[in-house]
Amino acid sequence: MRQPVVIGNWKLNGSPASTEAWVSAVLTGTGALDAVEIGMCPPCVLIPSAVNGSAGSALRIGGQDCAEQVSGAYTGEVSADLLRAVGCHYVILGHSERRSLFGETDAVIARKMVRALAAGLVPVLCVGETLAEREAGHMEAVVRTQVRAVVDVVGIQAFERVIVAYEPIWAIGTGLTATPAQAQAMHAFIRGLLAEYNPHVARIVRLQYGGSVKPENAAELFAQPDIDGGLIGGASLKAEEFLSICRAAAETR
Ligand code: 13P
Repeated sequence: MRQPVVIGNWKLNGSPASTEAWVSAVLTGTGALDAVEIGMCPPCVLIPSAVNGSAGSALRIGGQDCAEQVSGAYTGEVSADLLRAVGCHYVILGHSERRSLFGETDAVIARKMVRALAAGLVPVLCVGETLAEREAGHMEAVVRTQVRAVVDVVGIQAFERVIVAYEPIWAIGTGLTATPAQAQAMHAFIRGLLAEYNPHVARIVRLQYGGSVKPENAAELFAQPDIDGGLIGGASLKAEEFLSICRAAAETR
C-alpha cells in the first residue's frame, strides 16, 4: 500500500514570520494524520526556519530546485548537498515554471536528479503538458518524453525513492483542475510507463497530482486509484486549507 504524500510548494511566497506561524499551525493540526506523509517546500532562505520549527515532528521540508553542479563558481545556485545539510528531505525538480521561465530542459533536470539522489534527497519530479499539447492529443507523448529522459539517466531503481508529480500546466494557478478522470488516466499512463522498466517499482512509486488542488476538489482526486497525494501551490499557503487537503488524503486510506 502506498502512503499518500501531500507537499506544499510555496513558490516565491512567504516570509520568516509566516513560515513560523504556518509550521506551528500545521503541526497542531496534523497530530492525528499519521496516515499521510506531509511536506512543505518554502523559498530556500526560509528552509532553516521551517526545519527548526518542525524538528522532532513528521513534517518534512524540501527545496524547490537545486543546482546541477556540486560546488564552485556558480553565483546564485544552491546544491543538493547543501539542501540536505540544512535538513531538507525533498527537492522539487523540473517544475513547469522552471522549465518554461528558466529554460530547464529534460537533460538539465536529469542531471539535477542525479545530484539530488546522490545527496540523499527525495526528488519530486514534475511532469505535465501544456493546453495546446493536450488539445492536440499529444499529452501522453510529452509526459513519456519527460519521464523517460530522467529514467534513462538515473535508472529505474532510483524511482523507488522518487515521487513523480503530474502537473498539467493548464491547471497550475489557473483555477482549472484536471477532472479526476483526466488525472487518473495520466497517472495510470505514467505508472504503466514505469512498469515497462520494472513492474515492482511501478507498483510502489508515488504519483502526486498538482494543479489547482483545493479543499473542495482534493477528496475526489485522491480517491483515484493511481493518485497518491498532491503537490499543492496556492492552497498550501494557508495552513487551514493545506490541512483540509491533508485530511482528504488521509480519508482515502
Ligand atoms: P497551484 O496549486 O497554485 O495550481 O500550483 C500547483 C503547483 O504548481 C504545485 O507545484
